[in-house]
Amino acid sequence: MKAIQYLAQPRFTRSVTFTVYRQNRQQEESLQVNAEEGKTLMDVLSECKQIKELDEFGLCGGELSCHTCRVHIRQGYAKIGQKPTVEEEDCFSLLGRVDYIEGVTRMACQIKVSKEMEGAVIEIPDEAFTQL
Ligand code: FES
Repeated sequence: MKAIQYLAQPRFTRSVTFTVYRQNRQQEESLQVNAEEGKTLMDVLSECKQIKELDEFGLCGGELSCHTCRVHIRQGYAKIGQKPTVEEEDCFSLLGRVDYIEGVTRMACQIKVSKEMEGAVIEIPDEAFTQL
């Protein structure tokens, strides 16, 4: 009898580059982040070693209960194409006017990095960083 071997196919992952900056910081301090397609934006930002003191971000791990992964997509929102779910929209209704901007604000834990995000510009609110 001939044994059949199944070899795991290497998963092809694409990398997507977008710009990230901290709210109220100079545009020159923005970072180009290279992200693996398919990961959540929250994971990418949390794991990015270049982004310092991002300690108050994504505290519930994607359960939509903490609202700390809130980001403002300043360029490329429409291109992302992933519309907020009803659950995510419920989160928005709990945020105040300062924290939520229609057509700009998203929960990073609900966004999967995709090629459509190439060139997007993402602002991380000050509250996500260590408060001194
Ligand atoms: S990580 Fe808590 S709402 Fe996204």
